[in-house]
Amino acid sequence: MRKNFFIFGISVLILTTIIYMFFDVGLLLILFIAIILGLGYANSIQHKHAILRNFPVLGYFRYLFEMISPEIQQYFIERATDGKPFSRNERSLAYQRSKDIDSTTPFGTQLNINDSNYEGIKHSIFPAVVKKELPRVLVGGPECTQPYLASLLNISAMSFGSLSENAILALNKGALKGNFYHNTGEGGLTDFHLQGGDVTWQIGTGYFGCRNESGGFDSIKFAEKANFPTVKMIEIKLSQGAKPGHGGVLPAAKNTEQIAKIRGVLPHTTILSPPGHSAFSDTKGLVQFVATLRQLANGKPIGFKLCIGKTNEFEAICEEMILQNCYPDFITVDGAEGGTGAAPLEFTDGVGMPFEPALIFVNKTLIRFGIRNKMRLIGSGKIISGYSILRAVALGADMCNSARGFMFSLGCIQALRCNTNTCPTGVATQDKMLMKGLVVTDKSERVFHFHKNTLHAANELLAAAGKDSFSDVDISIFMRGDEFSHLSDLYFPDNLKSVTHY
Ligand SMILES: Cc1cc2nc3c(=O)[nH]c(=O)nc-3n(C[C@H](O)[C@H](O)[C@H](O)COP(=O)(O)O)c2cc1C
Repeated sequence: MRKNFFIFGISVLILTTIIYMFFDVGLLLILFIAIILGLGYANSIQHKHAILRNFPVLGYFRYLFEMISPEIQQYFIERATDGKPFSRNERSLAYQRSKDIDSTTPFGTQLNINDSNYEGIKHSIFPAVVKKELPRVLVGGPECTQPYLASLLNISAMSFGSLSENAILALNKGALKGNFYHNTGEGGLTDFHLQGGDVTWQIGTGYFGCRNESGGFDSIKFAEKANFPTVKMIEIKLSQGAKPGHGGVLPAAKNTEQIAKIRGVLPHTTILSPPGHSAFSDTKGLVQFVATLRQLANGKPIGFKLCIGKTNEFEAICEEMILQNCYPDFITVDGAEGGTGAAPLEFTDGVGMPFEPALIFVNKTLIRFGIRNKMRLIGSGKIISGYSILRAVALGADMCNSARGFMFSLGCIQALRCNTNTCPTGVATQDKMLMKGLVVTDKSERVFHFHKNTLHAANELLAAAGKDSFSDVDISIFMRGDEFSHLSDLYFPDNLKSVTHY
């Protein structure tokens, strides 16, 4: 291949020189070819990249195509129901709701609804009236003195650092307009979160914003911020679905001077928050920490977020709560299918329990221990539509958080570059030039509309199921494809045998 490059390159150079001599073509062309040849020669003798060594110029196309592969997939290959983690249909729905334009679909479903994986709501012949007001849920157990009336749908944890300052500003302003909360993520509470929107302040293992010199928890710094009026709730992050047991990752490229100052770390280095907390190391310590934070926050709701791994550990937490007679005001259950700014593939693809079994397990365990009424359950894991909200509620959640849904409302195109600082939409980058593309005033409106229209769709589904309130919803309103074949076997074995067992 290298031989071909030299033969072809030198022939083109000789040919161009001849053309130049006889036909007066610009010297520039020869110069251009000479540069390409020089570059090709340099590549052919370098040792680092095999492709460029073998294909000194053409090899660059591989890098170019690899770079734009997600866009090529999306623009030319992907069908409406394809696309991962979110299909084109799901993304389009989020964009339409964010833009407050028609989000209906034409012609009928594109899903294979005779599949055993099909899931649907059992609608009622006598639908209820669709409520105009958006649903809210009171958070605050017996030990909470400042309960918070939260929206049923809120912005899930995403740090400043993983998202740009314009993205955080737009999220917070959208939350202010729509009266829902904005979770800070583990990167700390910054000025960008203080635009007036309600905030859930997340405390991760790095204790950013309430961190002492040695990286541990600082109760004085915590108390100061926890008592800001817009901080409505505090969430202790035990783990997140995309990387449970790993801890946070802020890639060096995104760790700017500004972020390093806020977090109290060295700029331009990769920041790994430890996998576990230093403020406690067992169930007893966790429950005590909940009590300590509630006291420091003057009775504001305190909860923790986790992705379920070993189920007996969660049962041990329940036993400890009962022993200490101390309960969190909420628990956030994050499914293993959850998103992240950056995580090792082994963790995103192979650790933690998915949303559905995790939520069912946590809900049932709390009921089994007789403590379900002490706290609220918040669910997160690909909540993007009214349907996914109703489904989460049916599985046991009182409320939902969405991270990537709100990213779409900010203009995210699922370019899958959150970890490279090159997010083309300015959402998940610290590059000032890219960030400029995200206009805060415009996108905060979209955040507001996405929330409002998605919850309205949930209200419509609730009414279609014949229910008046989300608290009346349980799993019995859902049906599954495998249920039909089972029922047909059961009740019409003779008639349908040929259909179900062919
Ligand atoms: C860019 C990004 C940053 C995130 N940062 C955090 C974080 O700081 N703390 C946390 O608990 N979860 C974090 N998450 C996880 C989300 O809060 C959420 O639990 C998860 O993505 C599931 O919700 P989704 O499916 O709606 O995205 C992050 C997710 C994304 C996409």
